[in-house]
Parts: sequence; C-alpha cells; structure tokens
Amino acid sequence: MAAIGIDKATKIFGRTAALKGVSLDIRDGEFMVLLGPSGCGKTTLLRCVAGLEQVDAGRVRIGDRDVTDLAPRDRNIAMVFQSYAVFPHMTVAGNIGFGLRMRRVPRPDIQQRVRQGAELLGLVSFLDRYPAQLSGGQRQRVAVARALVMDAPVLLMDEPLSNLDALLRLQARADLKRLHKEVKRTTIYVTHDQVEAMSMGDRIAVMRDGAIEQIGAPMEIYDNPASQFVGGFIGSPPMNFLRGAVRDGGFAGDGFSVPLSRPRGEQGRELLLGVRAEHIVIGGGGIPAKVLVVEPLGSHALVTAVVGKTAVKVQAPVDVAVKPDQAISLRFDESRVRWMDAGSGTALPN
Ligand SMILES: Nc1ncnc2c1ncn2[C@@H]1O[C@H](COP(=O)(O)OP(=O)(O)OP(=O)(O)O)[C@@H](O)[C@H]1O
Ligand SMILES: [Mg+2]
Repeated sequence: MAAIGIDKATKIFGRTAALKGVSLDIRDGEFMVLLGPSGCGKTTLLRCVAGLEQVDAGRVRIGDRDVTDLAPRDRNIAMVFQSYAVFPHMTVAGNIGFGLRMRRVPRPDIQQRVRQGAELLGLVSFLDRYPAQLSGGQRQRVAVARALVMDAPVLLMDEPLSNLDALLRLQARADLKRLHKEVKRTTIYVTHDQVEAMSMGDRIAVMRDGAIEQIGAPMEIYDNPASQFVGGFIGSPPMNFLRGAVRDGGFAGDGFSVPLSRPRGEQGRELLLGVRAEHIVIGGGGIPAKVLVVEPLGSHALVTAVVGKTAVKVQAPVDVAVKPDQAISLRFDESRVRWMDAGSGTALPN
C-alpha cells in the first residue's frame, strides 16, 4: 500500500505548459479522480506519476520513496493507458496474464488470477480469442483486466471506460468501484466524464489548463464549487450563473432583482449568483422569467427559462404544467446559492 505525493510538478512541451506546478496528495488506498476538459493535463500528470514522462520541476513520491528519478518499472505501479494496447498475437488469457509472466509468477497463480480478472470484467467466454476477434470495448476491458491482476499497490487508469457503450460503462463503473472497495489499491483515475467522477471518486481533483482548480469529495465540489469553472463543469445540467451587482439588501442584474436576507459584499460589487437546477422552484412570486424549452426526462423535467438574457435551467416535477413562451417566476433556495466574483469567477467564502 502506498500514498502518492505530487509536489509542484511542472511539465513543459515546447511552448505548452502542460503542468504548471501541480501539487496533489493521494492517501493510501484512496480512489482519486482527475477530472477536466480535453488538454488540461490529466494524461500528462498520470504519466509523470508512472515515470513515462519526466517532470521538468517538482517531485513525485510513492509510499515513502521519492520516485522522481526512477524508471517506470521501479515505481511498482500498474497502468491502463488511454490509447490502450493489447498484443494482437496473444489470446485474451495471454494478454491478461502478460505482466504476471514477466514477473515470473508461478503458472497456477497466473491461471487463477487471469480467471479472476476475466470474471471481473466479463471476459470469461473470450479467454481463448484473439484481440482481432473482439470489439473495441472488449479489447479495452482486456487492458483493464491486465492491469488489475498485477498486485501493484498503485493503479493508474487513463479513461479506461471511454470505449464502452453506455450500459457496459455503467456496469464497469460499478464493478471497478466494488473492486476498489475490496482491494483498496491507491488509484488515480482519469476521466472527463463528470458523472463517472462523481460516482467513483473518494475525492476529485478538477484540473484546468495545467493546474488543479479544486480538490474535494464529490458532494463537496458539487455543493461548493471553488469557482465558476468548477460549478459549470460538475453537474448535469451545470450550475446556473446570473450576473449582477449588490444593491440595497439584494442582488440585481439584467431583468431581475433578488431580495436577500444576507446580502453579500459591498454595495455595487459585481457578482455571479450560482444556483443548481434543483434549488430553483417555479412559481411562488420570485423573479420573472420566460419558458424556452421543457424537456421531460422520465424522473423529472428540465425547464429552460430566460431571465433577462440569461438561460436558466430548472429541475421541475415531470408533470410540470408550463409550456414554451409562458411567463413564469423563479425562486432560488437562498441557502444553496453560491456567490462568485464576477471578474475572476472565484467563489466567495460561504
Ligand atoms: N508529447 C507531447 N508533446 C507536445 N505537447 C504535448 C505532449 N503531450 C501532451 N501535450 C500537450 O500538453 C497538454 C496536456 O495534454 P494531456 O494529454 O495531458 O491532456 P488531457 O487532459 O489528457 O486531454 P484529453 O482529455 O484530451 O486526453 C495539451 O495541450 C497537449 O497538446
Ligand atoms: Mg488524456
């Protein structure tokens, strides 16, 4: 078992700063998710932990060892790559057991662990097939199984489920989570799927442009985003933002004015009011809005309305009786509203 410590890791490719002094401490046995948009540096950070990239500055620790200058094979990690590679000339069983054979694990042990890995990922009936006889999703599962059967204390996974169809992905997500609960290996899991991040992570590190914007437990990040970027990235739909300024006892912007029991900041300060779709109710004499679209989603309806010129998404009961162009009013649950500085997008303290 091993904690991971990343201390001010910097990585520059030509003129691109892929990592700008990233620090991140991952506890022993923790499932840490790296989440962020394409190009923000997730894969680069993972590869720096694995030793496949050298950091230009900063240190990487695994357990009580500083591994910054160690080769990948000396870091005792198992990794599933984003562009996973399986060996075309080996069967599924051969692929899953590959790392174990390299380690000279005794044959019966290999067979047993290959079997377990295959069971975990639903590959038992494919053990004798070659990769060319598998779908892309099945191949990807082979790559995950191959990493899982290694007993490395650290498991690094770079978007391992991205090639699976929606249903399999849901299943594999639950399986990986269960597996992690059982073996408690320290895991760094990269994804740009925020639902996956929320459901799997003990904690999530939200990355943006080579830096970490926020680290926290999923619900902490969801409820208390540190910035407009995080609030807009986590959650489906993303957090709503209304721009306005503090006015006598309230908050007013284009086409709305919200009275507040606890006004924020000094008079005239420009702020963003951040509120989640489920913390808005339609009706009851709030701020005026006009319905744009109503989307029935089975368990609830998503109503998009405009306040001034800003579109606001509201989670409503599935039988909500509103229709496009209808004038409605919206009320925000004041205790759930988050305030951000309008210039920097940084959240104000609660
Ligand atoms: N070998 C490389 N040479 C030059 N630039 C690179 C290299 N690898 C990554 N980059 C750049 O570094 C930045 C971070 O890339 P990285 O692959 O870490 O992003 P990512 O968050 O994994 O994105 P994605 O979600 O698309 O996989 C990008 O701007 C990318 O173009
Ligand atoms: Mg990547």
